[in-house]
Amino acid sequence: MELLSEKVTCNSHGQDSSYFLGWEEYEKNPYDEVKNPNGMIQMGLAENQLSFDQLETWLAQNPDAAAMRKDGESIFRQLALFQDYHGLPSFKNALVQFMSEIRGNKVTFDSNKLVLTAGATSANETLMFCLADRGDAFLLPTPYYPGFDRDLKWRTGAEIVPIQCWSSNGFRITESAIEEAYQEAQKRNLKVKGVLVTNPSNPLGTTLTRQELNLLLTFIDEKRIHLISDEIYSGTVFDSPGFVSAMEVLTERGYAKTDDVWNRVHIVYSLSKDLGLPGFRVGAIYSNDQTVVAAATKMSSFGLVSSQTQYLLSAMLSDKKFTKKYVAKNQKRLKKRHDMLVNGLGGAGIRCLESNAGLFCWVDMRHLLSSNTFEAEMELWKKIVYQVGLNISPGSSCHCTEPGWFRACFANMSEDTLNLAMQRIKAFVVKSNSGDHGILHSPKHHSTKNSKRKGFSKWVFRLSFNDRQRER
Ligand SMILES: Cc1ncc(COP(=O)(O)O)c(C=O)c1O
Repeated sequence: MELLSEKVTCNSHGQDSSYFLGWEEYEKNPYDEVKNPNGMIQMGLAENQLSFDQLETWLAQNPDAAAMRKDGESIFRQLALFQDYHGLPSFKNALVQFMSEIRGNKVTFDSNKLVLTAGATSANETLMFCLADRGDAFLLPTPYYPGFDRDLKWRTGAEIVPIQCWSSNGFRITESAIEEAYQEAQKRNLKVKGVLVTNPSNPLGTTLTRQELNLLLTFIDEKRIHLISDEIYSGTVFDSPGFVSAMEVLTERGYAKTDDVWNRVHIVYSLSKDLGLPGFRVGAIYSNDQTVVAAATKMSSFGLVSSQTQYLLSAMLSDKKFTKKYVAKNQKRLKKRHDMLVNGLGGAGIRCLESNAGLFCWVDMRHLLSSNTFEAEMELWKKIVYQVGLNISPGSSCHCTEPGWFRACFANMSEDTLNLAMQRIKAFVVKSNSGDHGILHSPKHHSTKNSKRKGFSKWVFRLSFNDRQRER
C-alpha cells in the first residue's frame, strides 16, 4: 500500500457512497422481464433511453456520418490522424448552435470560447483545475449530484462547502443560505473560489428561477468569485417555467463587456443527457475568460472526444430540422414519464417535489421513516433496495439536509418496467401501513447472499452516517 499514491488510497472520490453502492447491488441482481422478473429495478441511473428511435432513424437516413464518408468519399484516414485538441471546427460550430437552440436562441455562443471534454465529468474537473488550488472551496447548493465529490474534489484537492437548502421553500437557494456557506468556509480557513450550481438541478429536477440566478450573480460579483453553471440537463426541460441559462441572465444584467464578471461565469454542458449519449463522452466548457479557455484546451488532451464521434455528431447536430424535432419529442416523452412516476407514487401516498426537468423526481418519503434521522433513511433505503427491489438514491448520498428524500429515475427503463416499479412500491406501502414488514419477494439466488448483504448494509449505514457527521 505504501508504494501507491495518496490519490489511490484516499477516500475522497466518494465511490463508497450509497449512490454507487446501490448500482453495485443492482448489478448483482438486475431485473429482466423474462430472465429475472423478481430482480432489482434500476431507478438510480440518470440515463435517457427514451429517444434512441429518433437517433437510430437519423443514422439510417444519414449513413455517411457513421461510415466516415463525406460526399460519398471515405475520410477515414483524415479522421484517424486528426488529434488537434482544439476539436473539429465543424463540430464546435454545430454544438454551440445546438446550445443556443436549447436556450430558445436567447443567447449565442462563440465556438472560440468552447472547449471540448470527455463528458461533463471531465469538464467540471478541468474547470476546478483552472479555478481552484488545493484546499480552495466551491459552494454547492444541497442536495447535489453525488458524482461531484469525485469530480470536483478527488484529484484536484479542492473542497466542497454545502449551501444548505430546505424543503420548506422547495430547496430554493436563498441569500442567507449562500452567506452562511461562505462564512462556514471562512471558519474552516478555506478560500472560496466560487459557487457551482446544476441548472436544471440534479437531483431536484427543477430549473433555477431568474431570481435565484440574479442572487447568484450578485453574490459572485460582490465576492469577486466564479460561478460554474452545469447545464447538462438544459434540453430536458419539459414543463413551465422554461429554462433560463446563467449566460442569459448575465447578458440581461447589462454588465459592460469589459467587466470582469463576464470572465467569471462558466458553463458546463454535455450530450450525455439531452441526446442520451453518455457512452460517447462528449462534453464542453464555455467560458469568456480566454486564459481559462486556453488552459482548459491544453488540459483537454487528457480527455479528448474522438474524431469519428465529433464527425458523426457534427453532421447530426447541423441537421436543424432533426434537432428541433428531436428536442421537442424528447421533452414530450420525458413529461409523460415524469407524470407516470408522480401519479404512480401518488397512488401509494407518496408525493414528489414539483419539477419541470431532468430524468428523475425528488421523492418525499419522510412519512415512511421510523424517525426523523439519517439512520432511519438508510433503514428505509435498505428495505426499498432489498425488499421492494428498487434501486433509488437516498438523499443523504446527495448531501440533502433533511432525511427522507430519495431520487428516483424514470427515463432509463420501459413503461412496463416503470409500472412494475410503481406496483412494487405501492404493495410495500400497503404492507408497511398494515404493520407487516416481511420481505415482499425474494429472488432465488438472494438467500445465498443474505449474510454478505447484512454486512454490506451495516457498512453502508456506517459510511453514510459518518459522512453526515463530517459535513455538519
Ligand atoms: C449534474 C451532472 N453533471 C455531470 C454529470 C456527468 O455527465 P457526463 O456523462 O457527461 O460526464 C452528470 C451525470 O449524471 C450530472 O448529473
